[in-house]
Amino acid sequence: MNAPVTIQKRQFDANVARRDFPILGREVYGKPLVYLDNGASAQKPRAVLEAMETFATSEYANVHRGVHFLSAKATERYEAARETVRKFLNAGRSDEIVFTKGGTEAINLVAHSFAMPRLQAGDEIVLSVMEHHSNIVPWHFLRERQGVVLRWVDVTDNGALDAEAVDALIGPKTRLVAISHMSNVLGTISPLKEIVRSAHARGVPVLADGCQGAVHLAVDVRDLDIDFYAFTAHKLYGPTGIGALYGKPEHLKAMRPFNGGGEMIQEVTKGVVTYADPPMRFEAGTPPIIESVGLAAAIDYVNGFERDAIAAHEHDLLAYAREGVRQFNWLKVVGDAPGKGSILSFEADGMHAHDLATILDREGVAVRAGHHCAQPLMERFGAASTTRASFALYNNRADVDALIKALAKARDILG
Ligand SMILES: Cc1ncc(COP(=O)(O)O)c(C=O)c1O
Repeated sequence: MNAPVTIQKRQFDANVARRDFPILGREVYGKPLVYLDNGASAQKPRAVLEAMETFATSEYANVHRGVHFLSAKATERYEAARETVRKFLNAGRSDEIVFTKGGTEAINLVAHSFAMPRLQAGDEIVLSVMEHHSNIVPWHFLRERQGVVLRWVDVTDNGALDAEAVDALIGPKTRLVAISHMSNVLGTISPLKEIVRSAHARGVPVLADGCQGAVHLAVDVRDLDIDFYAFTAHKLYGPTGIGALYGKPEHLKAMRPFNGGGEMIQEVTKGVVTYADPPMRFEAGTPPIIESVGLAAAIDYVNGFERDAIAAHEHDLLAYAREGVRQFNWLKVVGDAPGKGSILSFEADGMHAHDLATILDREGVAVRAGHHCAQPLMERFGAASTTRASFALYNNRADVDALIKALAKARDILG
């Protein structure tokens, strides 16, 4: 028997890791790029770009349908990517992983195929005010079309989300809890395990939107005992156009298809159609094949470091930035929950978030401004918009210094 292979991890050093990301070497408006819009989409390391290029130039063909050499190779790589995602989430089997075109589609799949056929008028879905629209609008569809009632869990004034607050809203008509693992605006991390425990005690399944969570936290779907977990590749240093849904096998097996087309059937006649087993049942048409190779390479890249070391670094950056903005009495941070992830959102007195972000941009500092697809949260905090700096593994304290300097300059110009 062969001895198990131990993969040597790289020592994590952000200043070394950032050299893996070619785009970080460029300038904007003659200034070095300071990329702090990672919550929207992260940059890609060379390992991901090269994995996709090598695959596309040497092994590419359509998957699952060909008998020829390249089709078999491509299918192998596509299914190997599914296995990489399985391990990343610690799911039991790779057929519990459905590839989608992103986190949004993964959540829509659950809404359409799991919730829609089961829910009736008056049934309730519990979600929080800090959800991204991706985890709101699919449930609004059920409200509009089927009379489902949405019940909203509030966050505290510092942006924390308590498991008790979720528990308090679960009642006899609750059919699903849909909650973000980590807020894309506040950085708040939900106590998912406690939420799952209390929902399951009442027989209610839980879906987590892990689009931010999977980037910054180690996810173990079996330890969480979660029913569904959705995430997206492009925030995880992978390509756009692909995400994944983990689903408990008993749910996936009981779910009807979402999209119809090739590859998701067992048999089609003029009168009848029967469907393939999961995950193929939910992957109609040609899937994101090259992107699956990119996603696997992104996971391998992240796993090449100790994830705790990345997390500690990102927390240091957040604390450093939080401290840095204290000097600005005109700036109000939105979201200060204990243990939050590396996202800093703020409002600035007398300055529109877009004007502020435009000035930061001229200094080379890329941040996001607006409602961040989280309008109910903006309403909760009485803010029309915020400016958001979100940190990734390749950011460093010099990036934070550049942000602080650019903020001071913006105040001089706009204040
Ligand atoms: C918390 C959260 N959920 C869902 C999404 C949607 O992800 P995607 O656009 O990749 O489908 C985002 C993207 O901003 C997000 O931050």
